[in-house]
Amino acid sequence: MNYDAVTELALSRGFYFPSCEIYADAQAGFWEYGPLGVALKNRYIELWRRELVRRDGMLEIDGSQIMSKSVFIASGHLDSFNDPIVRCMKCSSVYRADRLVGEVINTVVPERIGDEELYTLIQKHNIRCPKCNGELSKVSRFNMMFKVSIGADGSEAYLRPETCQSIFVDFARLFKVMRCKLPIAIAQVGKSFRNEIAPRQSLIRLREFYQAEIEVFCNPKRLDEIDRFDEVKDVMLRIQDSNGMHEVTASSAVSRGIIPNRLIAYYLALLNEFYSKTGIDMGRTRFRRLADDEKAFYATVAYDFEVETSLGWLELVACNYRSDHDLKGHMQVSKENMEVMDADDGSGNSKVLPHVFELSMGVERSLYCILEHSLYEDMENDRLVLRLKPYLAPIQVGVLPIVKKDEVEAKAKEVFKMLRKDIDAFYDDSGSIGRRYRRLDEIGTPYAITIDRQTLDDGTVTIRDRDTMQQVRVRIDDLKDELLRRLKMP
Ligand code: GLY
Repeated sequence: MNYDAVTELALSRGFYFPSCEIYADAQAGFWEYGPLGVALKNRYIELWRRELVRRDGMLEIDGSQIMSKSVFIASGHLDSFNDPIVRCMKCSSVYRADRLVGEVINTVVPERIGDEELYTLIQKHNIRCPKCNGELSKVSRFNMMFKVSIGADGSEAYLRPETCQSIFVDFARLFKVMRCKLPIAIAQVGKSFRNEIAPRQSLIRLREFYQAEIEVFCNPKRLDEIDRFDEVKDVMLRIQDSNGMHEVTASSAVSRGIIPNRLIAYYLALLNEFYSKTGIDMGRTRFRRLADDEKAFYATVAYDFEVETSLGWLELVACNYRSDHDLKGHMQVSKENMEVMDADDGSGNSKVLPHVFELSMGVERSLYCILEHSLYEDMENDRLVLRLKPYLAPIQVGVLPIVKKDEVEAKAKEVFKMLRKDIDAFYDDSGSIGRRYRRLDEIGTPYAITIDRQTLDDGTVTIRDRDTMQQVRVRIDDLKDELLRRLKMP
């Protein structure tokens, strides 16, 4: 299905909707999760914890969203985290210059294009204000961080534009108190904030959004010495680089030089395994190696994990080799030593300033792709079905009395109460049974339990499967165990 169908479902069933929408001064780029969206997000994060954080023995932290100015001097964000803009000299509208040029000349403009080069393109193609056809200014830079002032004296601070800065700032303490050894990954899920010039397409480009980030601290001289690599060596990866598309195992990607080392290959393979459990169609995904002019300012090698959707290819995870950019910057500005001990590399020196490889995931974009790839119009049965993996479904079970009869309804309520402490269940007795099934199908509820007259006689209920619409009878005494078995993460 496409973007419009997903948005319609999200709004009509309350997965997500615009923030402050009852006010005329509501700002673009801020969206809220309703109950179904929160439940989907929480289950998604739990899968991320299971498949990445716990599987790899990572540490997880939860840092502040407001961070001091020094953090962003050290990280380079104050100087470099900016987008090129142009202003209309007639109506004063502001545009993101690279995007405006890209749209007019129908090409992707590289992230690191220079301002002069952009302005030359504007002149060459005679690009003018899309609103009033006025002349455009020269290209200037707009820093995308939200500045905040703290306390009565108004000290300058910023909302974090990426969650990982607290991981870098806390690194020395964490390494010591958690008795770490390299390589060690530290993870965090939380909100980030970017003052986007042109937020758009609901969850796709937001000003306030969740990131799930993993920062792997490693010894740059030992990037091939990762003993866990064997666990993933046979995982198939789809990698696109300047030589084309490669479908290769993680191990042959390293031996053929498609991925530079085992550490990067190992984490890309873990990520691939995680996404293969989300319900995203893996045949429509790729790791795209970025050219030099596409990478973020701190990255030396970068892959984007991308998913094909009705909006084109979307970047869900930036996989950046950040080298020692961050720890070196924080060490210089804070004067705190960020070096740690590792095995002697033969030079007699066992002190190392770790390098970082990161998996920086956009949670909202991931949820959007899951919804788009799962939403399906079942024409034959005249229904819209959200074929979510059972363990990601916001409502896991519907409990439906099949006839309007006091004893049947009382029994159905009893079953509902028995389930709801362990399972997200929903009781529904309004409307025809067909309509009730359809309401559950379109929000992705994998199982519906029906209670009928036979239940009163023999203590059994039916379980209806959302995808096959098949029903089986089970004893109420076995129901909870049977459902928990079906809802288990793989
Ligand atoms: N930490 C990388 C990013 O936010 O894109």
